[in-house]
Amino acid sequence: MTIGIDKIAFYTPKYVLDLIELAKVRGDEPEKYTIGIGQDKQSVVPNYEDIVTMGANAASKIIDDTDRQLIDSVILATESGIDNSKSGAIYIQRLLNLSEFTRTIELKQACYAGTYGLMQARDYVAAHPGRRVLVIASDIARYGLATPGEVTQGAGAIAMIISDNPKIASINTDSVYMSAERADFWRPLDRTQALVDGHLSTDIYKEMFLTLWQRYCTKTQQTISDFSGFAFHLPYTKMGKKALDEVLDQATAEQQVNLMEKLKASQQLSRQVGNIYTGSVYLSLLSLLSYSDKLQSGEKIAIFSYGSGAEAELYSITLQENFTEYVPRKSVKQLLEGRQKLSVSEYEAVFNSQLFDSHVNVKSEAVSGVTQFQFLGWQNGERVYA
Ligand code: COA
Repeated sequence: MTIGIDKIAFYTPKYVLDLIELAKVRGDEPEKYTIGIGQDKQSVVPNYEDIVTMGANAASKIIDDTDRQLIDSVILATESGIDNSKSGAIYIQRLLNLSEFTRTIELKQACYAGTYGLMQARDYVAAHPGRRVLVIASDIARYGLATPGEVTQGAGAIAMIISDNPKIASINTDSVYMSAERADFWRPLDRTQALVDGHLSTDIYKEMFLTLWQRYCTKTQQTISDFSGFAFHLPYTKMGKKALDEVLDQATAEQQVNLMEKLKASQQLSRQVGNIYTGSVYLSLLSLLSYSDKLQSGEKIAIFSYGSGAEAELYSITLQENFTEYVPRKSVKQLLEGRQKLSVSEYEAVFNSQLFDSHVNVKSEAVSGVTQFQFLGWQNGERVYA
């Protein structure tokens, strides 16, 4: 039985910050941001959006009535959760009007958890043919104003429906994975911004990628020539190049040109959105599927998922017949083009307007007359959504 990604959707908030303008205000060279780190823009979250609204807004683009009947589980991966106890997936289940006879759960392991969710979903469908799982990876990358990580912030959600006979890609049962306790990035319970050693994180990422690549090649008897491209977790787009450089010399000159072209296609969306943590590797995949016109059905793509702390997984997907018809490339481009630009001072005001204090009854700046889900504010310590 073939199992994999049947549908995929992306959502990001409507505000966007130009990073060349940010570089000028911060006293940095713009090329450091756009070339050295590889980021042009980042999505900015208004205080009426969070991982629940973004996740529900992404999923609502793909869920139809057949899915509502067949979805048994909602798996939400995030490291920007809104509650220490209650799963954000329960709010999403209600907002999407899914059956009460549905499992809902939230998973956490930095940027890696979406991949764990996907693997759980695949195994569930294998055991329950005909049934479906909704996997959502939703996050807000928040490092703080004028910090080194600021240029790599971002926000958004990827939603995927996992089923048998998938329309986009099968998930192959060839995973290799590893976990090793490291202190490159974490966020204690009393903090709203992450603590990060970005340079250490880059080193561990590269080390784990190389270790898993060698393990994968040995286990599956495949080489780099078996893949038409890679989708890497992209905390910033230069990270993809750093990873690919680790193995590129294993390819022929012609393959190297092809892999570099595909890398560029996979970086397009992250360049304009920023890091979306758990969803980042799947934003890279969506970008590759949206911006490369050279991919063919039957071809394999290697996926490398990394989460600080640290855990990583490498596996492959196989593109299905007519997959291009089901990749929402037009709507994704429209979503990004339709964003509203903020000046640096407007971005700073929005950044500081987040409603973290649950002790005060307060309304967010939710707007009326929109179809998207919104966080309306705090009421008696509860988050209110509509
Ligand atoms: N033109 C072109 N490139 C330039 C430049 C210029 N004017 N100025 C600097 N650069 C390059 C540097 O050479 C460097 O390239 P390299 O990484 O290939 O060596 C790059 O820009 C970044 O410069 P650096 O001095 O290392 O930047 P930084 O100390 O501000 O840190 C990050 C950059 C990405 C590490 C930082 O933004 C960060 O920690 N982000 C969080 C990322 C993260 O770890 N997320 C979680 C892990 S998954």
